[in-house]
Amino acid sequence: MKAIAVIPKKKGSLQLIDQDKPSIDQIQDHRGVLIRILQCGVDGTDKEIVEANYGNPPLGDDHLILGHECLGIVEKVGQNVTELNPGDFVVPTVRRAYGNTIYDKIGTSDVTTADTYYEHGINLLHGFLTEYFVDQPENLVRIPSNLKEVAVLLEPTSIVEKGIMHAVEIQRRLKIWRPKRAAVLGVGPIGILAALMLRLRGIETYVISRTQAPYLNSDLVEEIEAKYISTKDISFKDAADKFGPFDIIFEATGFSPLVFEAMELLGKNGVLILSSITANDRKVEIPADKINLDFVLGNKVCFGTVNANREHFEQGVRDLSQALLQYPNWLSKLLTHPIKGLDQYKGLVKTLCGPSKGVIKLFCEISPFPEQ
Ligand code: BGC
Ligand code: ZN
Repeated sequence: MKAIAVIPKKKGSLQLIDQDKPSIDQIQDHRGVLIRILQCGVDGTDKEIVEANYGNPPLGDDHLILGHECLGIVEKVGQNVTELNPGDFVVPTVRRAYGNTIYDKIGTSDVTTADTYYEHGINLLHGFLTEYFVDQPENLVRIPSNLKEVAVLLEPTSIVEKGIMHAVEIQRRLKIWRPKRAAVLGVGPIGILAALMLRLRGIETYVISRTQAPYLNSDLVEEIEAKYISTKDISFKDAADKFGPFDIIFEATGFSPLVFEAMELLGKNGVLILSSITANDRKVEIPADKINLDFVLGNKVCFGTVNANREHFEQGVRDLSQALLQYPNWLSKLLTHPIKGLDQYKGLVKTLCGPSKGVIKLFCEISPFPEQ
């Protein structure tokens, strides 16, 4: 079977390779599930891997099959699988619990403290830009069939869900927390999905990015009754003065200097969620005393969040379902750039690493949906 792979940390190594089709017997205790991959999305992490800044191959291999955002359909299950049946749509979680920490043992490897973690398509495990994979049901989240057209968005959604769920958990320190206003920094898939999740929770949401409105992303933000702000029209600081104070800031720009500005502009008792993967080495000067003083006097919190476990994927399924009802047709507008077939891998990567204007979700249509 075909797969798109790179040799991590080696520039220009992207290639279409041929792999053996996996079998359910590879999984212990007859718990194997064979999945045919229908779609697989790519994001900034894949870009970092393709550009040789990030990622590691599985032990004993020199190549890494890319892809961690996929939707598949179950083709075959082992005799001890009761959770899933052939024909079910599924999305796999990304990180695997091979560590020995308590978090790995209880199914929350997203918060593992093990130095080595395993992520499909990213770190030490092959990914989903291929035709088939096998896994056990514990790692597969079932998708209701009315969600299948947009379910390739579930993995990025799970990242947002985890950030928000952790923020809520942290804010229990306040005994009562009624967030009114949120700012989302960045208008890529994570930023847009974060705005959606905040709107579904009834929070007044401001999405802040560079590009001037109107364009597709700003239109999509306005369609879910959030407000789009371009920093070319009004600075982040002026926006915070005018529309804040922000009880939540969700940072998803990939530009780390903004983190410190967000720390300065966060409201009292507020929570700042950091979700950008920044694999470079940028340095900036910051007003350290002021940020610290405001954090202390304002009882503010800032935390990082990565990956997501099953619970966050399941919350994502519920929220995406609500979004289909509340904002019909909106989610499918995020699927801007389908690429048909793994053979088109060069086009996929060209769009991934090229100018991102007009691109929200870029994904590969690996296999067609079955006829109903
Ligand atoms: C993935 C996460 C992963 C993170 C760090 C993100 O793009 O969606 O699952 O944990 O990269 O590798
Ligand atoms: Zn990702």
